Amino acid sequence: MAVTSDNVVWHSSSINREDREELLGQRGTLIWFTGLSGSGKSTIANALQERLYKKGKLTYVLDGDNIRHGLNGDLGFSLEDRKENIRRIGEVGKLFVDSGIITLGTFVSPLREDRLQVRNLLKQDFIEVYIKCSLETCEQRDPKNLYKKARNGEIKDFTGIDSPYEEPENPEIILETDVEDIDTCIDKIIEYLELKENTI
Ligand code: PPS
Repeated sequence: MAVTSDNVVWHSSSINREDREELLGQRGTLIWFTGLSGSGKSTIANALQERLYKKGKLTYVLDGDNIRHGLNGDLGFSLEDRKENIRRIGEVGKLFVDSGIITLGTFVSPLREDRLQVRNLLKQDFIEVYIKCSLETCEQRDPKNLYKKARNGEIKDFTGIDSPYEEPENPEIILETDVEDIDTCIDKIIEYLELKENTI
């Protein structure tokens, strides 16, 4: 699908990523939250954002629902569309990381292969966080009534119901939101970032 014109040349600018990171006192990173709908991805990302803000760190949340209102408004939930959704977000995430921003991506991103593609693109700047929560609990929470609609057949291809979710095999961090409270989850991420050279 990639069509790159022979006549398109990459431009470098005089101020580079290192300059921006020095200015900000942080390292651009893409923290990728994957998990079922209702598992707590957005809640955790928002709480992490607040914690990092208080530490004087610049962050930005790329959120599944929001990106689907704009950039990816042309995509649905077939596995093919989800693949393209994640591919585009990976490219956007790479630009954010190059800007020096600690970027928090909250996407169901159900397929290992699609997440691996983003990991390969971002290399050491990618941190996968598995928001682990049983389908039963997500379905009980059902904050947007989507599971109910999926069970009624009003929504097709719903993750966990009639569309697959492949658990990460080697995520950097696992957070069990049906067992651990939010503060414990955030502490774990902060601890990880503090150990990762110059990130925060
Ligand atoms: S994906 O799989 O990564 O492309 O999905 P994503 O871009 O993260 O969008 C997930 C949000 O869209 C809503 N929604 C659905 N999710 C899963 N399956 C189906 N069929 C679906 N239809 C709508 C839902 O609100 C998801 O947000 P979260 O925050 O995960 O609940």
